[in-house]
Amino acid sequence: MIKIRKLLCMALLCPPAYAVNIDNGESLHQETCLECHSPRVEDGDHSTLYTRENRRVKDFAGLESMVRMCDSNLKIGWFDDEIMDVVAYLNQTYYHFPQPKVVEPTEKPQK
Ligand code: HEC
Repeated sequence: MIKIRKLLCMALLCPPAYAVNIDNGESLHQETCLECHSPRVEDGDHSTLYTRENRRVKDFAGLESMVRMCDSNLKIGWFDDEIMDVVAYLNQTYYHFPQPKVVEPTEKPQK
């Protein structure tokens, strides 16, 4: 089922470039990731893994691959655009890496 949806998605629904939706990233992250990324949710801190001194993620590409790794390890099965929404949310909130132009088409379509 997931495969079929992915294929459909690739064929029809998902344009090659999309605008990221940070609000959507935040809700996805809240639904799915806070379980482990909120060691002290009662005092509102759910970011210690992202902000610890020796954090693993060092650049934007690393952030994307970490999110992909957590997604596949946990068998969440997000679509690419959902992954990128969460990446954008985490980057805006915690990491602040300069962002490659993932949200813009590399070539403008000819008109
Ligand atoms: C089952 C617990 C668990 C869940 C759920 C989880 N993570 Fe993680 N995550 C971890 C652990 C543990 C680490 C630290 C890994 C390490 O240091 O080797 C980590 C590390 C990370 C990092 C890198 C932090 C750094 O060092 O800079 C990112 C980014 C991340 N997770 C994103 C996510 C996202 C997005 C989700 C939701 C899809 C998620 N995680 C869900 C356990 C979890």
